Amino acid sequence: MISRVLLLNKDASSFAPSWGAVILRIHSQANPPATSANTYLSKFRLYDQEIAYIVAEKQFLDEAKMKLENRVAIITGAGSGMGRATAILFSQEGAKVCVADANEKNGLETVKLIKDKGGDAFFVHTDVRKEEDLKKMVRSTVDKYGKLDILFNNAGVLEKPTNVEDITEDSWNKTIDTDLKGVVLGTKHAIPELKKTKGAVISTASHWGVRAYPGYAAYNAAKAGVISFTMTAALELIKDGIRVNCIAPGGVWTPMCQGFVQASADPVKAKKQLESLYPIGRMSEPEEIARAVLFLASDDSPLCVGTCLVVDGGSLARIY
Ligand SMILES: NC(=O)c1ccc[n+]([C@@H]2O[C@H](COP(=O)([O-])OP(=O)(O)OC[C@H]3O[C@@H](n4cnc5c(N)ncnc54)[C@H](O)[C@@H]3O)[C@@H](O)[C@H]2O)c1
Repeated sequence: MISRVLLLNKDASSFAPSWGAVILRIHSQANPPATSANTYLSKFRLYDQEIAYIVAEKQFLDEAKMKLENRVAIITGAGSGMGRATAILFSQEGAKVCVADANEKNGLETVKLIKDKGGDAFFVHTDVRKEEDLKKMVRSTVDKYGKLDILFNNAGVLEKPTNVEDITEDSWNKTIDTDLKGVVLGTKHAIPELKKTKGAVISTASHWGVRAYPGYAAYNAAKAGVISFTMTAALELIKDGIRVNCIAPGGVWTPMCQGFVQASADPVKAKKQLESLYPIGRMSEPEEIARAVLFLASDDSPLCVGTCLVVDGGSLARIY
């Protein structure tokens, strides 16, 4: 790919009329969106041609480089929804991925989806509520791939709604242990490896961790805890070059969200009502959230330290 661009520089003028087509062709080999070619073209016309080729070449090479080349990532809850979408995107961006999930069948399916597209991934059965499993998850990844660059603490559960006066100890513990303790102890065991690579931690909070949704006290508290933990860990770890951040998605159309809608008396009405909460007029797709996680995991976000990146279609921006 590089040699073809350098060849263009030798005799730039003779290629000028077909520059757009050439860029498009090189782009389609590297798989970035074809629309980028237009950006190069418009920039190209602004400059003297010889210089423009060099500018375009550099921008093209920068952009065509995969964002997570040679990185190793662990993703918990990668057997479904956002975790799976992120595992696939990370792999397409060059990362080797440890698919960690309590559901073996779904986890293995994610590995297959990645391998079918030519990526590298393996599955580790992990219950994020168990510290021993989290230790094993990190150890297996380093044994297999030699290092760890990125931890995405994403596994989570959403229990059936209950009023505060009816909360059971079991339900509280299940939510807090999965959605908060799993994040804290997952990070703890990844730190020694992340110090070596100056890596990144991203965790999944929720817009319900910023504002409350009635009936979900344990979930809201767990997600608020993830945001708070993110800030603490970020402040402690930035001196080691480790960036710790989290995302706060709104409603994302995954099995979890589908379950939430199905649990209501009238699921069709509930879905419409839910969508109306988002100024964008719809819920998000897991692939859209994956792009936000990629931003925080990649070199594109050096200033994000203890950030809670809200990706919620505008729901938190609205008072009523
Ligand atoms: N879907 C939404 O609307 C939404 C919104 C905001 C935040 N979130 C959060 O996003 C994250 C991903 O949720 P999703 O919507 O993709 O849900 P999902 O149900 O599709 O995926 C959750 C995954 O976590 C795994 N998991 C559950 N308990 C586990 C445990 N103890 N150990 C290991 N794995 C476990 C499940 O097997 C599943 O693969 C969760 O933390 C969730 O709370 C979801």
